[in-house]
Amino acid sequence: MQADNQLILDHLDQPIFRLIGEVADAMNRPCFVIGGYVRDIFLHRPSKDIDIVTLGSGIELAEALAARLGKRAHLSTFRNFGTAQVKYNRRDEHLEIEFVGARKESYSHDSRKPVVEDGTLQDDQNRRDFTINALALCLNHDRWGELVDPFGGMADLERGIIRTPLDPDVTFSDDPLRMMRAIRFATQLNFQIEPETFAAIERNCSRIEIISKERIIDELGKIMRSDIPSKGFILLDECKLLPLIFPELSALKGVETVEGRGHKDNFYHTLAVLDNVALRSQNEWLRWAALLHDIGKPRTKRYDARLGWTFHNHNYVGEKMIPGIFRRMKLPLNDKMKYVQKLVGLHMRPIVLAEEVVTDSAVRRLLFDAGDDIDDLMILCESDITSKNREKVKRFLDNFELVRTKLREIEEKDSIRNMKLPIRGEEIMETFGLPPSRPVGEILSAIKEAILDGKIPNEHEPARQFMLETAAAMGLQPVAK
Ligand code: CTP
Repeated sequence: MQADNQLILDHLDQPIFRLIGEVADAMNRPCFVIGGYVRDIFLHRPSKDIDIVTLGSGIELAEALAARLGKRAHLSTFRNFGTAQVKYNRRDEHLEIEFVGARKESYSHDSRKPVVEDGTLQDDQNRRDFTINALALCLNHDRWGELVDPFGGMADLERGIIRTPLDPDVTFSDDPLRMMRAIRFATQLNFQIEPETFAAIERNCSRIEIISKERIIDELGKIMRSDIPSKGFILLDECKLLPLIFPELSALKGVETVEGRGHKDNFYHTLAVLDNVALRSQNEWLRWAALLHDIGKPRTKRYDARLGWTFHNHNYVGEKMIPGIFRRMKLPLNDKMKYVQKLVGLHMRPIVLAEEVVTDSAVRRLLFDAGDDIDDLMILCESDITSKNREKVKRFLDNFELVRTKLREIEEKDSIRNMKLPIRGEEIMETFGLPPSRPVGEILSAIKEAILDGKIPNEHEPARQFMLETAAAMGLQPVAK
């Protein structure tokens, strides 16, 4: 790719870059904007985080800039790392600018903590992860906008290639998180990982163990939010990182055959479902539900001569596995997790419903159990139809349409989605002079069942009448007031 000079000049034409250049010139310091910000200019992607590298102390340059910006700037220095950050607010613009002195680094084998020495710009570029992330633009007046690209990063951007500037074994061994980053960038940008670089990931994959779970999940989240997330998981599998960071997903792989009968490969099926959901929704947690919807299958797999392969209750087993997976992977243990669990637990319901006659009562129950997440559940279930048999797909999708229509009708008529029972436990206790006890729960659940079965409407009077009848059948009489 020929660097588009006008594009560079247009991007740098911002007061903040002019000011950084001026401050650096006054200190007689070469100074460059470097890394992801430069890459994203050429990819036409928005980017807010600006990385500045200078020869000498990055902290001194940041201090000088902060002094010029005055009240609008907030400076933080990290002396241990020799870095500084300037946060800068102007009107509705919020920028974070990181400063670092050009460094020559080497890493000790058992940690990510580097041993740092001052270096040249080239030294600093050498120690960056990928050629496309090592591009630098000069901000000094006499070299304003000059692109420094020692490793053919522009050509790699053009061809869509992820490649390390140095021997990939060195780059990945210096910081094994970069193996995940390579796969994440390939997925996000739809780039290819250059074969030598990919082979090095495979050779170094076990080094991922020194990387914190938080950093790994950060990259996995970026893969999940990409347009075609399956690409990342297929690469993770091919380079053998997947079993190390996500063994449960890896366990979905493979096909077993008994008496000539095989089951589908649940890994590739899961990825197809994930991509289907990603086409229909940006909701990251719905995507996690897709990724985990069949996670219980390996533990529930059985072969039966009559039925063939079965995965009974894999949805409930999967639902139970989720807290353990979320805890280990440092995913949030909050309502997001509960939502994923709920969808995984319920994901068979619309399918079963669509296979049978769609009765009002089954639809009411589904609506009651799914509540406000019913639309997401329907997206998941439609995405779960990955059969190659066109007729089968059509039959399922038509049935789902019927389920959707019924859901709308019943919701309009009965407002089941956020249903509260028209009778409360207190009323039962008061009416029959009961303490909090089992019969109270039994009467309540009989009322709920009657409403969901459509035997009585979701209203107080009919529910009270039903309560009196149910209690009478249990031998309970109302107490006189
Ligand atoms: N970098 C690196 N090795 C890492 C992380 C970062 O060499 N493990 C370098 C790369 O030059 C990268 C820059 O630091 O471009 C900034 O890193 P970061 O902000 O994490 O990533 P970006 O490349 O900006 O991409 P994104 O914002 O999408 O994370």
